[in-house]
Amino acid sequence: MSYKILEKEEIAPSVHRMNIDAPDVAKAAKAGQFIILRIDETGERIPLTIADFDPEAGTVAIIFQEMGKTTKQLATLGAGDVLEDFVGPLGTPADVRKLGTVILVGGGVGVAPIYPQAKAYTEAGNKVISIIGARNEELLILEKEMGEASSELYIATDDGSKGHHGFVTDIMKNILDSDEKVDRVVIVGPPIMMKVGAGVAAPYDVEILVSLNSIMVDGTGMCGGCRVTVGGETKFTCVDGPEFDAREVDFIQLMNRLSMYRGEEAEATEEYEHKCRCGLH
Ligand code: FES
Repeated sequence: MSYKILEKEEIAPSVHRMNIDAPDVAKAAKAGQFIILRIDETGERIPLTIADFDPEAGTVAIIFQEMGKTTKQLATLGAGDVLEDFVGPLGTPADVRKLGTVILVGGGVGVAPIYPQAKAYTEAGNKVISIIGARNEELLILEKEMGEASSELYIATDDGSKGHHGFVTDIMKNILDSDEKVDRVVIVGPPIMMKVGAGVAAPYDVEILVSLNSIMVDGTGMCGGCRVTVGGETKFTCVDGPEFDAREVDFIQLMNRLSMYRGEEAEATEEYEHKCRCGLH
């Protein structure tokens, strides 16, 4: 079975949004879940969070940043091309229900998984305060969509080119310090941002959830590649998560495991780019 790319757009430098024709995935998808795709039969399997889905149209949107070999190769594809595999939805859906007020914090491409959550929490009757951030204005994604899906939207950039000059977690702290009664905080982004965010929110009387992006291979709980320690126990991100109680997550172990394959990944990327330069692709 193959999956057709219907649309592709570069929404920020090196960040792409693709709409894929995948009716079965679209019908079953819920906020917080992910897919695993493979470009061709020899390709690496990469997990990507579902950035949007339309059960009626049978389409699923993914957003990815060009980082390693596979995402660079994926970025060369466009409308009309097909993917070999597009498996999902995988993972446990986000625990979305009516709670009251929910703060959603998304950093970098972490805004992509936050978007379906913003829609789902709003639909469930919550007040949704979203805080999105990026290194600079150019790299900020889904601002319009997040504005429409949220009750309030705040923006932070590291260089101050848009919104608050600083971190998303500064804005989160200001809200937690205010009179606003917050029931839950959900943080999605680079592991270091989730670790810092969890640390900032920890002293407050609020539930804190993070969506983890550990290394995944099969995505079905068989290989153990995605294991993380949560509350002193080993959990598999692909089936037990990706969402976990932030206070319980061993972020140091997560970051160590993520950096384990960096050398091999750099080599594969270098080889791929060399072949591109030589016209071998
Ligand atoms: S990806 Fe293999 S167990 Fe989770």
